[in-house]
Amino acid sequence: MSRVPVITIDGPGGSGKGTIALRLARALGWHLLDSGALYRLVAVAALDRGVRASDETGLARMARKLDVRFEAADDGVAVILEGADITDRLRSHQTSEMASRVAALPSVREALAERQRQFRQAPGLVADGRDMGTVIFPDAPLKLYLTASPEARAERRYKQLKEKGESVNLSRLSQDIKKRDERDSTRAIAPLKPAPDAHVIDSTEMGINEVMDTIHKLIKESNISH
Ligand code: DC
Repeated sequence: MSRVPVITIDGPGGSGKGTIALRLARALGWHLLDSGALYRLVAVAALDRGVRASDETGLARMARKLDVRFEAADDGVAVILEGADITDRLRSHQTSEMASRVAALPSVREALAERQRQFRQAPGLVADGRDMGTVIFPDAPLKLYLTASPEARAERRYKQLKEKGESVNLSRLSQDIKKRDERDSTRAIAPLKPAPDAHVIDSTEMGINEVMDTIHKLIKESNISH
């Protein structure tokens, strides 16, 4: 039986994955999974309910039960947690820190794994994250690993946050990115790394259109039906 096709896009924060994944999903008419948003949601819920990063069992229980909806919005996707639109809180410094901590907990990852696989629906899925190609969809017919220099990534995040009206400091952001990269790549479970069969794209010197062209070429070369 042929399975619903998945294109996985993994890589560090600020590599442009989110934008690229959204564009690609729209271009193909496929579903989109922003798996980082799930970890961020657990973080927001934990902060709101006073569940600590050290309470792995409590966090995993919460992750299993979260009432989450993703709704199409003009500028991307709106995230609804228990009926409240929390999209604007997802990318804050506090949420990012907590998300990186909860993402290192095996029971939380396990609790979110099945939820992520449920996004695999016809006609296809574009899955954005850290372990999409290595752990969640190891049989994906096309795996991409998008990266960029830490400096370029810090600058992209800086612009993103500024546009949202957050007061940000570039050097602090740069330090945060390095710290999170370190935590995400060295954790024992599902560390950030390219799958052996992933195509690595370094976008440091590339614009979005160039990255999209490269990906469309790879799609043509692979045997993905759509
Ligand atoms: O991609 P992002 O910045 O929204 O991810 C938020 C955090 O969740 C980040 O610290 C990495 C982690 N994450 C993960 O461990 N596995 C994923 N599939 C996606 C994100």
